[in-house]
Amino acid sequence: MTGRSDDRRVRIYEVGPRDGLQNESTPISAADKLRFIELLADAGLREIEATSFVSPKAIPQLSDADELLAALPRREGVRYPVLVPNERGLARAEAAGVDAIAVFTAATDAFAEKNIGMTVEESLAAFAPVLARARELGWWRRAYVSTAFGCPYTGRVKPQTAVDVARRLLDLGVDEICFGDTIGVGVPNQVGELVNLAQGAGIRVSRQAFHFHDTRGTALANVTASLAAGVRTFDSATGGTGGCPYAPGAAGNLATEDLVYFLDASGWTHGVDLDGVLAAARFIADRLGKPLSTKVGQAGGWDHQTGRATGREAEPRP
Ligand code: COA
Ligand code: ZN
Repeated sequence: MTGRSDDRRVRIYEVGPRDGLQNESTPISAADKLRFIELLADAGLREIEATSFVSPKAIPQLSDADELLAALPRREGVRYPVLVPNERGLARAEAAGVDAIAVFTAATDAFAEKNIGMTVEESLAAFAPVLARARELGWWRRAYVSTAFGCPYTGRVKPQTAVDVARRLLDLGVDEICFGDTIGVGVPNQVGELVNLAQGAGIRVSRQAFHFHDTRGTALANVTASLAAGVRTFDSATGGTGGCPYAPGAAGNLATEDLVYFLDASGWTHGVDLDGVLAAARFIADRLGKPLSTKVGQAGGWDHQTGRATGREAEPRP
């Protein structure tokens, strides 16, 4: 316990196993995905988006979702949401014994059509029965609004457009709205404007989450702006992987290690251990056959007592 008030508590929602891996061409085995998820839970992450129940043609890397969930050891206190695009995905999720889902649409029709083959309006109609059933089952429900700041096909997105979609999703009974900067074009003043507009539309900050990609190096600045505006939930991917195959130009998610270092040093509590995240980051980078290129992955953490870098040699725990 730190004695700090709850207002200094941040939720880190890990998307590495899902958003992080979905666009990677090196196939990762289900056993390695499970190991990655276990390392993330060991690091203290309590919300780990595990996979997607989408078309295997759309996202080949995650085509083992059923097998993965069947083998995933659930830990007390850890939530493992999965992406569900339609009723078929819901049925698969139900068979897999999940208790948390995320539906996903976009602020723009152009992106939604490429990503899920539906206009925004069509996606809302498709989600209605999915969310109603998930509610009946007592599942936790999140909805993503992708391209909330900009669309790779139609350019700049007005914040009101993203908020209008979010409000419709809230009316369909989701617990949380996640605004996604899918291609990493947003900057802090836009974030503040979006948070305030969403609040004005009745979407409390406690129901808002932000999902930043660090494509142009603005992700942590955007986190700072969100925190100042009252938001306390952020998505990140250990190892800084990520991107959507339907979002040309998208680069990695905000790296969990970069976020954890930043939050620790700024006095926010979150329950996640940096060395544990670095161990998981090294593990997945190794399996992807890539060097770990995130800032804190390279530099390590920093022990303010000794002035030395920390966690650079952290290995996955046996
Ligand atoms: N799980 C598995 N297979 C599914 C599925 C699901 N949830 N939903 C549809 N399919 C299958 C269909 O059976 C069909 O298979 P077939 O070609 O062998 O007959 C095929 O996928 C196409 O389905 P269809 O209903 O015609 O829809 P579509 O081609 O317009 O695709 C989605 C719609 C939503 C299924 C597809 O676009 C998708 O899965 N998108 C996800 C993209 C994603 O995850 N992006 C990253 C997250 S940001
Ligand atoms: Zn993303």
